[in-house]
Amino acid sequence: MDGGAATRPARAAAGGGAADAGTGSDTNANTVSGTGSNTVSDTDRLRPPVRIAVIAACPAQRSALRAALESRYRVDVFADGDTAIAWLREALPMVILIDDAAPEAAAGGRSAAAPWSALRTVHRLGFYPDLARVPLVGLTGDARSDLALDFRAGYRPLLVKPIRRSALLETVADLVNEQVELAWQNLAEPQRAALMKTVAVFNGVTDMIDAGRPVPYQTFRQSCSPLVEAVRGGAFRAVLEGVRGHDNYTYVHSLRVATFLCYFGHALGLPESDLTVLATGGLLHDVGKMSIPHEVLNKPGRLSSGEWGVMKSHVPRTLDFMDLVNEVPGGVRLIAAQHHEKLDGTGYPAGLKGAELNDLARMAAIVDVFGALTDHRAYKAAMAPEAALDLMHGMRGHLDHVLLALFREMLLDAAGAMDAA
Ligand SMILES: [Fe+2]
Ligand SMILES: [Fe+2]
Repeated sequence: MDGGAATRPARAAAGGGAADAGTGSDTNANTVSGTGSNTVSDTDRLRPPVRIAVIAACPAQRSALRAALESRYRVDVFADGDTAIAWLREALPMVILIDDAAPEAAAGGRSAAAPWSALRTVHRLGFYPDLARVPLVGLTGDARSDLALDFRAGYRPLLVKPIRRSALLETVADLVNEQVELAWQNLAEPQRAALMKTVAVFNGVTDMIDAGRPVPYQTFRQSCSPLVEAVRGGAFRAVLEGVRGHDNYTYVHSLRVATFLCYFGHALGLPESDLTVLATGGLLHDVGKMSIPHEVLNKPGRLSSGEWGVMKSHVPRTLDFMDLVNEVPGGVRLIAAQHHEKLDGTGYPAGLKGAELNDLARMAAIVDVFGALTDHRAYKAAMAPEAALDLMHGMRGHLDHVLLALFREMLLDAAGAMDAA
């Protein structure tokens, strides 16, 4: 194991852990880190949830791959197949990257003693049923190497150097998402449909924006209907757990906001039609982020004033998209338009104040901040739900405190809600 790992991990199923990756939150949650708590689960929240393995004999390649991946994933790095297999059988990764670069020459100009064969390691991984199911990505500097030819013949993903970090991350994210979505097939209804339908409609939004043609609101209402059913049936926790590990952050954040908003409304006794508005409003509230540049959305640390202006433009961009949606309910539009407004008038885009803020938007603001704080991002750890609620309690000029107290009560009352968050 490279990099001095501490203890051997317990056997872990692929697909566990919370979400990360994709677009950024604009709630300033990236300025907040840590939980102040030292329980086991809170400590675990500080680490990226999805496990990725790298097998590379060349130390420089190991370092480069670790550096490219570690802000988004829990990366286990190995110099040889034997060590990797012994370790990975105990802690299955979501994806294995295998680099065929030879070990660098040892000091004094002699080459490393053991011959390195990435392809032999690939074949050995196939001997173990659990490991054989983990998707592999080949990395090579020679498009005609043994590994390259084998991966091409087997239609396996292959990246030829020089490899752009964005291409590497995109390849890994696609494989992670494939597996997470495959696991949804095993969920009971309506939880399975809640996830499958919302991800399908969400993935289609970019095409809808590009096409610029009117979209029937029914498309979104129907995609959120199983989510409403799951929440009303008390199964929202399975939805939240199912989305963990998915690598499209905007989708993960939006689905979490939709689920919590819908549950919030359900706990307040709102009728089904309102729950549908809350669910669709939550799913669509940030779609404008899809056209914000990746480097702004995912920038670690503070945004410049110019970047902040671009980030804030996701609200009008979302409303532009809603102009394309036929007969979009007023509540859905309000959630999108006002979820960054603050009671003291310091929010955006309109700087609305006090009574000017709609109740749906007040609920959305609470859920949006809670979702952003408790999400894992490339630039920050996930905050424990209790710590997030405590922090939100101090946001006096921002959030509606009567609704916040109800939201807190609702989470504490719902069995497993705090764990699922
Ligand atoms: Fe937003
Ligand atoms: Fe949001």
